[in-house]
Amino acid sequence: MAPKIAARMENVQPFHVMELLARAAALQAGGKSIIHLEIGEPDFPTARPIVQAGVKALHAGLTHYTPATGLTILREAVARFYQDHHGCNIPPERIVITTGASGALQLICGVLINFGDRVLMADPGYPCNPNLVRLFGGEPMLVQVGADTYYQLNSKLIREHWGEGSKGVWLATPSNPTGTLIPESELRAMIEDCRARDAFLIVDEIYQGLVYGHKAITAAALADDIFVVNSFSKYFGMTGWRLGWLVAPEGFVREIEKLAQNIFLAPPTPAQHAALAALEPATLEIHESRREAFRQRRDFILPALRELGFDIPIQPDGAFYIYANSGRFGQDSVAFAARLLNDHGIAITPGIDFGNYKAEKHVRFAYTNSLQNLEQGVKRLRRALD
Ligand SMILES: Cc1ncc(COP(=O)(O)O)c(C=O)c1O
Repeated sequence: MAPKIAARMENVQPFHVMELLARAAALQAGGKSIIHLEIGEPDFPTARPIVQAGVKALHAGLTHYTPATGLTILREAVARFYQDHHGCNIPPERIVITTGASGALQLICGVLINFGDRVLMADPGYPCNPNLVRLFGGEPMLVQVGADTYYQLNSKLIREHWGEGSKGVWLATPSNPTGTLIPESELRAMIEDCRARDAFLIVDEIYQGLVYGHKAITAAALADDIFVVNSFSKYFGMTGWRLGWLVAPEGFVREIEKLAQNIFLAPPTPAQHAALAALEPATLEIHESRREAFRQRRDFILPALRELGFDIPIQPDGAFYIYANSGRFGQDSVAFAARLLNDHGIAITPGIDFGNYKAEKHVRFAYTNSLQNLEQGVKRLRRALD
């Protein structure tokens, strides 16, 4: 037998940060102290009420499949969350519970992308997005974005880059890796742009709860003909539970359901019962206190990095990332990150994980670590850069 790997796999890129993580783990196993500033998930454990609800579900034998679109009570609870926190009325039938935002994005790609379809997205951006588009036969159109547009697409960029075969636009606000937000006026304008072109619009709001100094908005409140993705991973601190959701236009829910039945059968059942507790007011207080902790960390590390010589032209107001120009310290951010790790015990992510545009001059800092460790990290950086 000589099985062959499918040709499509040539287009699927690995996460470079995983290699860095493996190297950091090896160094740590050898006794070296590492300050982790590369990890894209909250350092806090899942809040207790969520864990207790998950354990209770397991003990109660709630371990069977649910409907492919998720538990009705959870869809209703997410709808209430939109009503209570964003004042928008979304029928629970338009909410589909998924296996993380990742599952939601796969389902959306599956129902939208035809062979050769082009999808506009920002470079730098979340690295899985172009891989997913390719996996479903489409072609990602990476649009170079800089600080002048908050590292986000806008109406003007859509106009300039729209062309033959363009079928949709993919946004993420707040963004990974830049932590920047799309202003509401721009979001509204891009919704109109997509309507005018009969294009689809995907808005990834996985970091939506983690916004500092602004009111968190949702695109779901602005339009009902777009695809909005969210997750229990980040704000709700449930990365390993693998649970998220999407809000779909009414006419697409049945198709998404069919695909979910085939790909996932159902999102994880104990996680869905646990997530019901994540949306309870008392648990939301815990999430809010963690959001405040992230804000404090951002407020510590942002000026510290600037003072060390990293160029960060605009303040990131969301997620837990800072995308910094490291050009002053060299033109090869992979080598720079490797040096910081090997010689100084600081793990960060090089820009190449997030695209091509000026990637060799950028690195991403994740402040998913305690203030104390961030202080230690800054001390080490100062020593390294001196
Ligand atoms: C922008 C963005 N979208 C989607 C995901 C996937 O998240 P999950 O599948 O854990 O919900 C991530 C994870 O880091 C992300 O940063």
